[in-house]
Formats: sequence, C-alpha cells, structure tokens
Amino acid sequence: MDVVVVGVGYVGLTTAACLAALGHRVHGCDTDAEKVAALQQGRVPFHEPGLTDLLAGHRSRLSFSSELNPGFAPALYYICVGTPQGSGGQPELTALWQAVERIVDQVEGQPVVAVKSTVPVGTCRRIQERCSQAGLGARVVSNPEFLREGTAVRDFFHPDRTLIGAADRGAGELVAQLFHGIQASVVMTSWEAAELTKWATNAFLATRITFVNELAALCDALGVDVLEVTHALGLDHRVGRHFLQPGPGYGGSCLPKDLAALIWQAGEAGVQLDLLTAVPGANARQRSRAVEKLKAGLQGLGGETVAVWGLAFKAGTDDLRAAPALEILTMLAGAGARVQAYDPQAASRLKHYLDPAVLQAVSLAPGPLEAAAGSDALLILTEWDEFRAVEPAQLRSALRGDLVVDCRNVLDPERMRAAGFRYCGVGRGERL
Ligand code: UGA
Repeated sequence: MDVVVVGVGYVGLTTAACLAALGHRVHGCDTDAEKVAALQQGRVPFHEPGLTDLLAGHRSRLSFSSELNPGFAPALYYICVGTPQGSGGQPELTALWQAVERIVDQVEGQPVVAVKSTVPVGTCRRIQERCSQAGLGARVVSNPEFLREGTAVRDFFHPDRTLIGAADRGAGELVAQLFHGIQASVVMTSWEAAELTKWATNAFLATRITFVNELAALCDALGVDVLEVTHALGLDHRVGRHFLQPGPGYGGSCLPKDLAALIWQAGEAGVQLDLLTAVPGANARQRSRAVEKLKAGLQGLGGETVAVWGLAFKAGTDDLRAAPALEILTMLAGAGARVQAYDPQAASRLKHYLDPAVLQAVSLAPGPLEAAAGSDALLILTEWDEFRAVEPAQLRSALRGDLVVDCRNVLDPERMRAAGFRYCGVGRGERL
C-alpha cells in the first residue's frame, strides 16, 4: 500500500520505518526542516534501538520531505503529530488541526485518514465532519498506538492487539490490511471507544505502577521484600505479572500526559474521577521518598555530593520528558547537595530540562565509576544494563561514602552488603 505519514517524531518515524519493512511504500512529511534533513541523510534524531538499521534496510521504500505530496497517490494518510499537554491537562491540538487542514487543502479523492496521534474523545468524528464539509470524500479511522519508547520497533511487530475505531468498516479493514503478516487480534470499535481506550490504557498503567510503588513503601516500613510479594501477586492471572516493578515513579511523555488528559475529559463531562485524580500526587511522593532515603542515610544533604546513575525516564531511551531525575535533581540541589550524574544516552539533553540554578549544582561524568568517584552516596534512577555490570568492589573503591540508594533494584543487595555498602533498594525492606 502507498502511505503518507504526517509527523515523523518517535511514533510517526517508527510507524513509517516498520510499514516500509512490511513492504509498503511510505512517505514521511514533517514541518521540522532540521528533522527532515537528518532523515534524508539516514540519521535518526533520537535514540530508539533498531530504528536506524530499519530505515537503512528499507530506504528504497521510504522518502522524507516537508511536503505532503509524495509524488504518488497514497491510499492512506497517517496522522502522527504530537498532542502535547496543554493547560489544565487538555491536549494541545494545533499540530493535529494543521495536518487536517493540509490534507483537506491538498488531497483529492477518497483517501483513508488514520489518526495515530493521541486525541480527546470525539476528535475523529470532528475530523470526519471537517473533511465532509470541505468536500473531501475521506474516511477517518482511529488507530491508537501502544509502542513503548526503547522497544518501539519490537512492539510494532508484536502488538498485543491492533485497535481500529471506524464508522466505515471498509476503511477500518483497509487500515487492518496494513499490518498483514503481524500476529495480533484486530479489535474494531467505534471512533470514540478507540480514542478512550488509548487514554484508559496509559491511565491504568500509571495507576498500577503507583499501586506497586505504595506497596514498596509499605514493604520498606514492614521489613518485607516487595519482589517476593509482586512475584506471588503477579502469578494471579487476574493481576498479571507485567508493570509491577517499583521505581522512582513513572515518567515519560505519555503516562503523565494521558492521565492528565483523561482527568480533564472527565471534568468536561462532569464526572469526578477520585482514584485517578489521586495518582499524580502519589507519583510525586515517590520521587520524594528517594531523597528522604538519602537524607536519612547521610544525616542531611547540605554540602554532600551525590552520584546519580541514570537520568532518562527509563532505560533504552534518551528521553527526559517528565523523568523522575528532573524533580529529584531539583530537590537535591535545593537541599544543598552537589550531583555527579551519568547517563549513557540522555546526559547531553539535561541542560534543556533543568533550571540554571539547579544545573549549577550538577556536573556530568563520562561513566558510572567517574560519577561515583569522591561522592558521598550513590543514587540509581534508571535501570540501564551497564549498571548491573559494575563490580561492587570497584564501586566501593570509587565512592567516598558507603550509601547506595537503588531506586530501580538493579544491584544485588547481598553482594553490595558483602562489599561494605549500606544498600537500600526500593521496597526491599531495608531501613536506613
Ligand atoms: C507508554 C505505554 O507503555 C505505551 O503502550 C504507549 O504507547 C506509550 O506510553 C505512548 O502512549 O506513546 P512509554 O511512555 O514509552 O510507553 O513507557 P513505559 O514503558 O510505559 O514506562 C512508563 C514509565 O513507567 C517509565 O518511567 C517506567 O520506568 C515506569 N515503569 C514502568 C515502572 O516504574 N514500573 C514498571 O513496572 C513499568
């Protein structure tokens, strides 16, 4: 099939490259000239494992420009532009409506317009109305994405389901045909059910992570190992074992934004969501717990140096949006600590995300041991594999102090204690 992808950020570019790998001819268009120039040279402007190789391997079926018109007549336009969080949780839809207007102005015939951008309930219906009003015989389909950063390519080829919301079954089936060869059930719903499912999924995941983080805090207080609890809990098939890892609180561009958007939409509909409204505050509390552990272990933070391993909101990405590290570094600097930070992918982006006053307290190190050198304590915020490979004895000689607060449970508590550390994971039942 011939496809135009409008907006080649992390979702659009992964979609474009994976569709090309499935044999489709794909044109990616974006208003960001710098991004287009990078892609024309085969460079991916962000870190996503496997994506550069995929682009290189299917170059002949891929083109990029700032133009919507690819030089062939596509059967399908995929809208993948960003819908960032606006005021009060309401998504900002300027880029989405600009994309719709470009399609309405420049496209003829009866193309399918598939919406992958995360949008409020009722948006696809409004896009359909706009196309009809402008005399474009387009058929609009909702096709939300469930790709995770860091594993987006894998998730594209191994989805749990393909969700398609359509008023016109033929248009929905055309979108389903794009994914021929991929083993996943196709779920056909109304536009509105598909739009709401996207937000519901991320809101549920945020709630689930928050539940497990609160459970971890209780485990710490009661001297119980949360990993024993979550293992047994996850074996109950009604609960399931995924997304039960306690950490420094969820982050990223999606969970916080989509939860806020769902709460906003409920407010518009006059529905009070007590459970979901409590989640962002509980998530923020989890950031503070990490700092409280350091404060307890060091008896205050003024004048102390803290090594921080990991800045990205999770491993496998260079994304710092809503990363726990941002709030935690701000708290550490506010308490008078200095920070020596290391992240294998995200470090160079930090300057775009922190206040200059906080940045003054932070220096970047070229590796984990360099960050640890001369520090009074180590704080682990991202679960990069390379942290697991660091030998406790080497770390012991680099770190000035003996305190390790491991917010991702990446290190082995027994080996750490044997090497002479005061080790405190998240929910492992240790008290400082
Ligand atoms: C999330 C969803 O998982 C995707 O399905 C969705 O497509 C995407 O948002 C989106 O809407 O675009 P992503 O933001 O890439 O994907 O990250 P997740 O893997 O969901 O992790 C989110 C946060 O939760 C991270 O900070 C991660 O460290 C944290 N997390 C995750 C935990 O603390 N514990 C867990 O068990 C799992």
